[in-house]
Amino acid sequence: EQANRGTQNSADFVVVANRLPVDLERTADGGQRWTASPGGLVSALEPFLRSRKGAWVGWPGVPDVDVEEFDDDGLVLHPVSLTSAEVRDYYEGFSNATLWPLYHDVVERPVFDRAWWNSYVKVNQRFARASAEVAAQGATVWIQDYQLQLVPAMLRELRPDLRIGFFLHIPFPPVELFMQMPWRAPIVRGLTGADLVGFHRPGGAQNFLWLCRQLIGLESTRGAVGIRTRPGTMQVGDRTVRVGAFPISIDANGLDTLARTKGVAERAAQLRRDLGNPKTVLLGVDRLDYTKGIDLRLQALHELLHEGRLRPEDVTFVQLATPSRERVEHYQRMRGEIEQMVGRINGEFARVGHPVVHYLHQSVDRTELAAFFSAADVMVVTPLRDGMNLVCKEYVACRHDLGGSLVLSEFAGAAAELSSAFLVNPHDLDGVKDALVAAITLDPAEGRRRMRAMRRQVLTHDVDRWARSFLQALGAEPVD
Ligand code: ADP
Ligand code: F6P
Repeated sequence: EQANRGTQNSADFVVVANRLPVDLERTADGGQRWTASPGGLVSALEPFLRSRKGAWVGWPGVPDVDVEEFDDDGLVLHPVSLTSAEVRDYYEGFSNATLWPLYHDVVERPVFDRAWWNSYVKVNQRFARASAEVAAQGATVWIQDYQLQLVPAMLRELRPDLRIGFFLHIPFPPVELFMQMPWRAPIVRGLTGADLVGFHRPGGAQNFLWLCRQLIGLESTRGAVGIRTRPGTMQVGDRTVRVGAFPISIDANGLDTLARTKGVAERAAQLRRDLGNPKTVLLGVDRLDYTKGIDLRLQALHELLHEGRLRPEDVTFVQLATPSRERVEHYQRMRGEIEQMVGRINGEFARVGHPVVHYLHQSVDRTELAAFFSAADVMVVTPLRDGMNLVCKEYVACRHDLGGSLVLSEFAGAAAELSSAFLVNPHDLDGVKDALVAAITLDPAEGRRRMRAMRRQVLTHDVDRWARSFLQALGAEPVD
């Protein structure tokens, strides 16, 4: 197989991810255009990589297209093509119907399919070849996420001269769950091709170290892994592989600056007027994914309205849901259920011109999103499991007025950093209801105190710090 032609071995810093930061979209008139790609990985990495002028290897988001490498404002984008069958088997299948549910605590049942696995191996090999073509001698290559876990070892084989990092953007599961995976040893072996394997949380790193001992017989350290410090280590042949925890974050200053603009403040006020100036605006912002617990928050709202603890004339709930993985069955089922619940709540509690739930199955741009965050009194983030969750950090970054409160699931990685939020167990519906009421009726001075503490955390631990700490541990950047 031949990877795309272009930057022949000249990039010193290469990011490799399933998706490019932009998606190719076919327009109704038969043309095409590039739009921003969905998801937290791109939100986090794009601003960072743009400041470095590196290269980005990834899929352009549609099947069966052959796009030449191109320069996007100083960032070299190197497309990797996937056929329709590969999108079905490698992306929708193995990545999103096997790995995604398995790594998110099996909240849906993972499907184990041998043809999907074969496609995953083949596509990972293609990404490895493309990366080998782009990277200069001795370059740093940073491979991202669960779709590409075999690439580190495959790339090492092709290019032993490279410095290779890998970061997992989703949770790494408890070992008992990982052991279900029929191809568990090759996946662990694939990851150990990196010089540094990074996770959001120390627990994920420790689970991985255990699996390396049990499944492939490596001698690894057993001590507690710290956050950005004390990585675990193991010997793989003549190489030392490090395993660490690096909680990802956002471009907090960029968002803070955007939220302070007059345009965002005016748009936020307009949004509240458009919603009918309710006493309380509740907001959810997610990819439409079953891990996000959108159904649970709707159920909590429904019960609170039923019990009269909330009055429909006082509250409006806005749910923005980016379309995601729409051909995967788990997602189709969940979408039907959520839309039914929205219809039910509005059917029972809306008045003409005043729905209680505004549900937008759409993506909005950054300025509009900042306006929604600024307009919302309560941000509701209730995933059953989430590697980090950037939405809650974005909300905090937008609240320079110290207004608003955050209801946050304990099972989001971000909960470890945002302890001043109203933390909830999303499986405990009564607890979620109580937290919603507490957040809605919060004393403003107490609200400001909580928001100040969360802003201190988010503004000092931004995405730049995340990337630098990872690259320093990889030895690709001098330590401050
Ligand atoms: P995930 O990576 O699982 O999608 P994260 O919370 O880490 O979850 O990241 C989601 C990213 O997508 C955030 O940057 C968020 O602002 C963005 N996003 C989610 N929903 C929307 C939406 N409806 N419109 C615009 N951006 C969205
Ligand atoms: O880390 C979460 C993540 O799965 C990314 O890997 C991914 O790019 C993003 O969410 C959006 O999902 P998808 O690329 O499947 O649309």
